Amino acid sequence: MLEIKNIYKTFNAGTINEKKALQGLSLTLKDGEFCTVIGGNGAGKSTMMNAVAGVWPVDSGAILVDGVDISGLCEHQRASMLGRVFQDPMTGTAADMQIVENLALAARRGSRRSFLKWGVPKAEYETYRELLKTLDLGLEDRMTTKVGLLSGGQRQALTLLMATLKKPKLLLLDEHTAALDPKTAAKVLDATQRIVEKDHLTTMMITHNMRDAIAYGNRLVMMYDGHIVVDVSGEEKKHLTVEQLLNLFSQASGSDEADDKLLLS
Ligand SMILES: Nc1ncnc2c1ncn2[C@@H]1O[C@H](COP(=O)(O)OP(=O)(O)O)[C@@H](O)[C@H]1O
Ligand SMILES: [Mg+2]
Repeated sequence: MLEIKNIYKTFNAGTINEKKALQGLSLTLKDGEFCTVIGGNGAGKSTMMNAVAGVWPVDSGAILVDGVDISGLCEHQRASMLGRVFQDPMTGTAADMQIVENLALAARRGSRRSFLKWGVPKAEYETYRELLKTLDLGLEDRMTTKVGLLSGGQRQALTLLMATLKKPKLLLLDEHTAALDPKTAAKVLDATQRIVEKDHLTTMMITHNMRDAIAYGNRLVMMYDGHIVVDVSGEEKKHLTVEQLLNLFSQASGSDEADDKLLLS
């Protein structure tokens, strides 16, 4: 499904601000795999996702989706195969539009169908109501509420629904619950897991919460210095503890700064 093959990315090459953000990163995700990504601040997690999304070209290496090399495609050209959710609840939805209008807009992304000329058709409206119910945040009763009036957690959940509405080939989540309180974060994470499983979406989820990284998904990778140093899946992942994860990090990175690099980031 997704193959990242030995990619490199250096920012500001040859200047005093040079930063080797990705250094020979490789990762292959199978269809429907839900991979959590952890690593300290600056390890290159967001850079990896930006490379997949085509925010800029990588310096070398290749990125394949379903066997097709997409390295040469720009961000816009890759957009139709991707769903993305970022940390900031203010992005991803239109504040001055209703919940149902936001969903209808997401459903029409990339299509020529004229937008909401006659309002949202009844059947479509009901489809959205059912989808909103699955989020378990009471949004199904507030479909004509302007999104700007929602809480951060409600907005993130809606953004998630919009990002997955057209069943993207890849779902990229970059700390999408980091700005939420723990209880709301758990709700959004549960909704994430349900949607990913229902639609069998190939997913990468960056988190700085090691417990969440262990609890959600069926694969876990840890990044350090621009590449992957730990890769755990299946039964091994299920039974992983935070302590074991810290040990794996120390072994892989050759440092015992695990506490600083992971826990405090
Ligand atoms: N657009 C950019 N320009 C310059 N440096 C960048 C850019 N994006 C990321 N970096 C640098 O690359 C490194 C990795 O960043 P990032 O991928 O955001 O880390 P993470 O998401 O793991 O915290 C950091 O040192 C960061 O400052
Ligand atoms: Mg980041």
